[in-house]
Amino acid sequence: MAIDFLSLTAPGVAGLHPYQAGKPVEELEREYGVSNAIKLASNENPLGPGKLTLAAMRSVEQEVSRYPDGNGFQLKHLLADQLKVKTENITLGNGSSEILELVARTFVTPENQVIFSEHAFAVYPILTQAIGAEAVITPAKNWGHDLDAMRDAVTDQTRLIFVSNPNNPTGTWLTSDQLHSFLASIPDHVLVLVDEAYFEYVEEGEYPSSTKWIGEFPNLIVTRTFSKIHGLAGLRIGYGISHPEVAELLNRVRQPFNSNSIALAAAGAALLDSEHVKKSVETNSTGLKQLMTAFENMGLKYIPSVGNFICVEFDCDALEIYEALLHKGMIVRPIGVYGMPNHLRVTVGSEQENTLFIQSLGEVCHEC
Ligand SMILES: Cc1ncc(COP(=O)(O)O)c(C=O)c1O
Repeated sequence: MAIDFLSLTAPGVAGLHPYQAGKPVEELEREYGVSNAIKLASNENPLGPGKLTLAAMRSVEQEVSRYPDGNGFQLKHLLADQLKVKTENITLGNGSSEILELVARTFVTPENQVIFSEHAFAVYPILTQAIGAEAVITPAKNWGHDLDAMRDAVTDQTRLIFVSNPNNPTGTWLTSDQLHSFLASIPDHVLVLVDEAYFEYVEEGEYPSSTKWIGEFPNLIVTRTFSKIHGLAGLRIGYGISHPEVAELLNRVRQPFNSNSIALAAAGAALLDSEHVKKSVETNSTGLKQLMTAFENMGLKYIPSVGNFICVEFDCDALEIYEALLHKGMIVRPIGVYGMPNHLRVTVGSEQENTLFIQSLGEVCHEC
């Protein structure tokens, strides 16, 4: 007799839908018979990792038969130095997604509520649902987080609030004043996780580094990643900064060797390579302008973004445009699952990738 596995799952799991990742280049080339496909779908760094980082990875390749340093001693010291925090404030993760998950698994029970905004990062609802907790989704304001609505949504059952700054996929951001007064208004029984996956890209003067408030707000957790600016998405390494007691609790739940040895070495080198970071920021800033100008020339609306991606709007269901772009070997991200069926999210690529994308989009819009 067939087993009904669905009936055996933990509460919440049956209602889950898997995270929809960007289509891999190889898959598109196989399925659509195109070559030299370009992927602008997963907010990756078009420059890849820097030379120093690649050298650091090679220097530890002989060591992969051994388990990595489960406490990430060296990387934590480098991070502590750079961020002006203590190593006790730091938790390393298999991507910053793992930190999001660790926080949810450590603190949230099925009796709790988790607050996040409409159009916020898709992993927040997945984690909430997987635990069987209640998701409280506050309406967005101008595509961004409405912090007043998020504060008003707090109840005795609220345990966690996700704030994405800047937000993926909308590219909207919160100022230092806005975020500080929000944090000051949240009661102690609620943890606030400020997700800063795109922190390094933001050039606005009013944009805060939330790590400076770790001492002031013990219920604040800040997450960052090496996947974006440092070009290490495939290695899976990110980190959380929090009160030491929070870090100690996360440490009880995490797998002992959650960050692999090549990722630890690469991340340490990447952190010190300020030239590569600077070049990545400049490439992104030029690319964002290139895309915005092109959208304006085509008469397309877009949401101004401070990340390494931008959402462009169409009069029709954007899936049609997405499909037509796939046939031209161009992968971007449809974001219907984010409640934005008329938008596509485009990652900022190299100048050449952006040019080819703009050309393909022009052809597709003309044909539609
Ligand atoms: C807002 C946001 N947070 C977190 C992540 C997770 O990144 P990673 O797990 O690669 O560190 C992403 C990735 O796209 C993101 O967009």
